[in-house]
Amino acid sequence: MAQEVRAVVAHAKGKPVSVETITVPDPGPGEAVVKVQACGVCHTDLHYREGGINDEFPFLLGHEAAGIVESVGDGVTDVEPGDFVVLNWRAVCGTCRACKRGTPQYCFSTFNAEQPMTLASGQALSPALGIGAFAEKTLVAAGQCTKVNPAVKPEVAGLLGCGVMAGIGAAINTGGVGRGDSIAVIGCGGVGNAAIAGAKLAGATTIIAVDVDDRKLALAREFGANHTVNSKQTDAVEAIQELTDGNGANVVVDAVGRPETFKQAFYARDLAGTAVLVGVPTPDMTLELPLIDVFGRGGATKSSWYGDCLPSRDFPMLVDLHLQGRLPLEKFVTETIGLDDVEEAFHRMERGQVLRSVVLF
Ligand SMILES: NC(=O)c1ccc[n+]([C@@H]2O[C@H](COP(=O)([O-])OP(=O)(O)OC[C@H]3O[C@@H](n4cnc5c(N)ncnc54)[C@H](O)[C@@H]3O)[C@@H](O)[C@H]2O)c1
Ligand SMILES: [Zn+2]
Ligand SMILES: [Zn+2]
Repeated sequence: MAQEVRAVVAHAKGKPVSVETITVPDPGPGEAVVKVQACGVCHTDLHYREGGINDEFPFLLGHEAAGIVESVGDGVTDVEPGDFVVLNWRAVCGTCRACKRGTPQYCFSTFNAEQPMTLASGQALSPALGIGAFAEKTLVAAGQCTKVNPAVKPEVAGLLGCGVMAGIGAAINTGGVGRGDSIAVIGCGGVGNAAIAGAKLAGATTIIAVDVDDRKLALAREFGANHTVNSKQTDAVEAIQELTDGNGANVVVDAVGRPETFKQAFYARDLAGTAVLVGVPTPDMTLELPLIDVFGRGGATKSSWYGDCLPSRDFPMLVDLHLQGRLPLEKFVTETIGLDDVEEAFHRMERGQVLRSVVLF
């Protein structure tokens, strides 16, 4: 029996979201219905609402979620009803060229549910990142459910499903930050501060936080930054160089995703250093750099999709580190809110008042 549940829908570019009743079908082969317990508000949801990702409105927003598997379709063996899971947007296929090469974190053919969830009119919804979890229940591919230790709070665990994983992974997986390294992180929202927490976990000794908002810089100190730079007042590249003996950082993460911040990341690296773009640009943005600098500075510029994570490897591990007191994921949860409060949470995000607002069901 298909079910009717309440959910947050974005109907048109720039228009406020609305809460409405949607229909969630029973899980088909390889699918699962998950009773959502918590779902964080990520900047990417706002990008969808602003038409910055694609034009496939109406969107069912929400994608940083944890919950309980309610039912599974035929052939599902990895999860069963009652399992506590974090939802991921990288259900690896196992057969694409990336998977075959042993790099499933780059899987080019990830799974989502095949059946659509629909509006009362019957119109199919586009779930954000193939998840759509600002909903009491959601339909996903079973591989999008990653089991973790249920001792963790859902509002904390769900954040690993997107922004926090993207940030930690941008530093550790994509940037390869390790013991004794220096790192600078530009943009200290949920994603950037997660990069800082990840760098601390990995043993980086110089951790520089850059933001235009002093409130975010104060939070960055709590996650492990030992230097902060307000780039409205100070030139970010010069400040990062000064803090690294005039050289630049081994790794610079751009967690904003604008041409000017990426340029800062590019030039604030040490020679042979790595610039990581984890912030998501919009399609109108372009970048111009002297090619001689791309050559002459050496090193690498990399993009980090989802922190190059492998959910089955990384989610349980990060939950365990959190439960051991070594990763303060609870600090990302600025507030818990209701399903009706998502629009207001977007405004608080734009005003810089939150790291994460998390919808609790
Ligand atoms: N690559 C991925 O897989 C992935 C996953 C999740 C989110 N993201 C993206 O990461 C970005 C950050 O997401 P978030 O949820 O942390 O957003 P957020 O709004 O919480 O944080 C953005 C931060 O950047 C700061 N900022 C804005 N302009 C700046 C500038 N010019 N210089 C320095 N700091 C500046 C803001 O003050 C804020 O603290 C977004 O673009 C989001 O779409 C990417
Ligand atoms: Zn694959
Ligand atoms: Zn996200």
